[in-house]
Amino acid sequence: MTVKRTTLTLSLLLGVCCAQAAQLNQRDSIWPQLNIAVKKSTAVEQQVEALLVKMTLAQKVAQMIQPEIRSISVDDMRRYGFGSYLNGGGSFPNNNKHATPQDWIALAESMYQASIDDSLDGSTIPTMWGTDAVHGHNNVIGATLFPHNIGLGAANNPQLIEAIASVTAREVMVTGIDWVFAPTVAVVRDDRWGRTYEGYSEDPEIVKAYSAAIVNGLQGRADKDFLSDTRVISTVKHFLGDGGTEKGDDQGNNLASEADLFRLHAQGYVGGLTAGAQTVMASFNSWHGEKLHGKKYLLTDVLKDRMGFDGLVVGDWNGHGQVKGCSNQSCAKAVNAGLDIFMAPGDEWKALYHNTIAQVKSKVIPQSRIDNAVRRILRVKVRAGLFDKPSPAKRPLAGKTALIGNKAHRQVARQAVQESLVLLKNNQQTLPLSAKQSILLAGDGADNIGKQSGGWTITWQGTGNSNSDFPGGQSIYDGFKQAVAKAGGKLELAIDGNYKHKPDIAVVVYGEDPYAEGNGDLDNLEYERDDKTNLKLLQKLRADGIKVVSVFLSGRPMWVNPHLNASDAFVAAWLPGSEGGGIADVLFDNGIDFKGKLSFSWPAAPHQTAVNRGDSSYQPLFAYGYGLTYQSKQTVKQLPEQIDNDPSSRTPLVILQGTVKKPWQTYIAHDGKRQLVNSSVASNAAIELRTIDKVVQEDARQLHFAGNGKGAMIIEQPFPDDLRDYSENQGVLSFDAKLLTSNDSAVYVAMNCQWGCDKGVEIANPLSSKGAEQWHNLTIDLSCFKQQGVDFAKVFSPFALYSQGNAKLDIANIQIIPDHKISPSISCR
Ligand code: BGC
Ligand code: BGC
Repeated sequence: MTVKRTTLTLSLLLGVCCAQAAQLNQRDSIWPQLNIAVKKSTAVEQQVEALLVKMTLAQKVAQMIQPEIRSISVDDMRRYGFGSYLNGGGSFPNNNKHATPQDWIALAESMYQASIDDSLDGSTIPTMWGTDAVHGHNNVIGATLFPHNIGLGAANNPQLIEAIASVTAREVMVTGIDWVFAPTVAVVRDDRWGRTYEGYSEDPEIVKAYSAAIVNGLQGRADKDFLSDTRVISTVKHFLGDGGTEKGDDQGNNLASEADLFRLHAQGYVGGLTAGAQTVMASFNSWHGEKLHGKKYLLTDVLKDRMGFDGLVVGDWNGHGQVKGCSNQSCAKAVNAGLDIFMAPGDEWKALYHNTIAQVKSKVIPQSRIDNAVRRILRVKVRAGLFDKPSPAKRPLAGKTALIGNKAHRQVARQAVQESLVLLKNNQQTLPLSAKQSILLAGDGADNIGKQSGGWTITWQGTGNSNSDFPGGQSIYDGFKQAVAKAGGKLELAIDGNYKHKPDIAVVVYGEDPYAEGNGDLDNLEYERDDKTNLKLLQKLRADGIKVVSVFLSGRPMWVNPHLNASDAFVAAWLPGSEGGGIADVLFDNGIDFKGKLSFSWPAAPHQTAVNRGDSSYQPLFAYGYGLTYQSKQTVKQLPEQIDNDPSSRTPLVILQGTVKKPWQTYIAHDGKRQLVNSSVASNAAIELRTIDKVVQEDARQLHFAGNGKGAMIIEQPFPDDLRDYSENQGVLSFDAKLLTSNDSAVYVAMNCQWGCDKGVEIANPLSSKGAEQWHNLTIDLSCFKQQGVDFAKVFSPFALYSQGNAKLDIANIQIIPDHKISPSISCR
């Protein structure tokens, strides 16, 4: 017996050891050791160790917590001594969108002074402030805003990119901020992703070169002015595979092989880390079902141990809370996997701080891991000179507010706009424009700096801005005015296209409205799917005998065949930013030609969403690298406008099957007040929800409405889904239900009812006529919800049940099924 057991243990041990060794062998055959430009220095390491030995556990954990400015006070900084803090997209000092550069500096200064004040926490380690300066210092009014990355990719000019990054670093330094969460080095493989525009290209080649250039521009060159007074720390993000999720789902699941993970998705890290990027941000996405924030193999074994990254890994916006078994308040698994700093916005930072300390004390997190994390944080701070530089307000660039949006900076941005434009069509040499022509400028993008700048522009989503929020910036119209004034021609601006004087030529500027992150996810690439205002305008102008030029603003290539057909010339302008004048520079006959080439293939069909120029069976409309110049005499022929409606591309959307599928979460509400459900029984005064068994364990839910106000169970996610492929193709909401008691109360199924359910489809009646106390499958025609006003382009909550009455029922197997051939049990047609 004993012998047997020993052999068993031994062989088990051997099995573990050898599986590990095999994994490391495989790792080393895929991932290289990088030759990183910033070398370890004895002086730096000694300084770090000297600090580390004097620190208490609480001080160490505080270095690892990064709260957000909306959720901490300067006093919290004094008391806890956080290693860093951030402002999220659209988060400003004093919650004031119009905060001045002085307000930004004042906050940086007080946070810094509080961090080095040891009166409460015993620590004098300076904190650092991180911000999303992702296309210029984009949270600050008046800053120079560069084209979003997709446009820069089309410019394919690494030198220009380095100049852009150094301008960004300078504008950030004026406001006393130390650290920038850029570049995004996602290699985007599916244009449905709402963050497509944050990527430079679908192909790793540009991403790799650019990553190095941006890092050099932000941090300075490792052998020159590295992290000097005009430079900031940079972050290569989001590690790893964010651009390769299934269906382009934001925060979704990447199923690439390990070899492809390296070959495609990791090339930006090869570029950026080799150049010396000091920080890496962990990604929200999963790799084969496991969230990156908890993935030790990639964060530690690959990134740190193999590639040799010796800086710090910061998490993304409560990303640790998405790791299995974790919450925003507690996640030992992420630390153990190699996360060095928790990005902890919201109020949960406090619980997270205490829980992490407790987990070290109970040895769930080894002390050595904490020391390693803090060593990395301190190493970055020492390298950045934070212990030697004066306080934020006294640094050389601080307060030089004239640098923010200054002329030279804007000139760099304007050049980037010029170089990013891609000419897709120019039949009969419609372009260039002559300023002597009589020109109509139309479209809702023509005089709209917010629209031309996209998401991550002052506000997080880039919405709610007007031209006056961009002092010093130029709309596209501003540039046209300048161009025409010089030549003495005629220009009329009419947003809706209703001109007063018939022009020779019309330039129509239109495209996507701003969005950020998962809010931009789409289910196919058809532009103007629901509303053809711009297409009709192009066609009307054409019918009036006017030549038409389209300037298309978008965060991704889109299927625009009808618009291409209705235009004589078509320019993909991406999201150019604050220097709209760059458009006129190229469109008019000024001697500046088009330089931009597609860094993303352009789709031939709405459902051709996955990009892959390496695959010979992939036939886009315009290939990667395409882009006309004024020398090209090419004609783009009439294109098919028929939409290929392929039902095989549509699969059921499973919402609850056993468990509620990610990213949805379950809430219960009482008269509109909600709480997240994270246990098998949850209740409020109006509803009790419990997990029960139907066929297998815990595969169904029982809801008991108490008749005490409006009770609801809501399945929801923070970002919406585009479900138009279902609503437009005879989709049904299908689920199993068993009515236990209803007492004649109405029970409603509703969609998108997160802020107080009031509409919906009644199900107690049909269920009781089918027979109570038995399971039935109900299928509700999606048009029932559509008629009630549900916008299927943005569904946050695909399923909710609510009642004011006293009723009890069980439900299971919730899904949305497309192309339902049989007639639904509840129909509204
Ligand atoms: C923040 C953004 C952040 C987002 C994440 C917003 O409230 O301002 O910076 O990226 O939440 O969901
Ligand atoms: C985004 C990051 C960003 C962070 C802070 C997150 O939601 O994914 O790219 O740096 O918010 O705003």
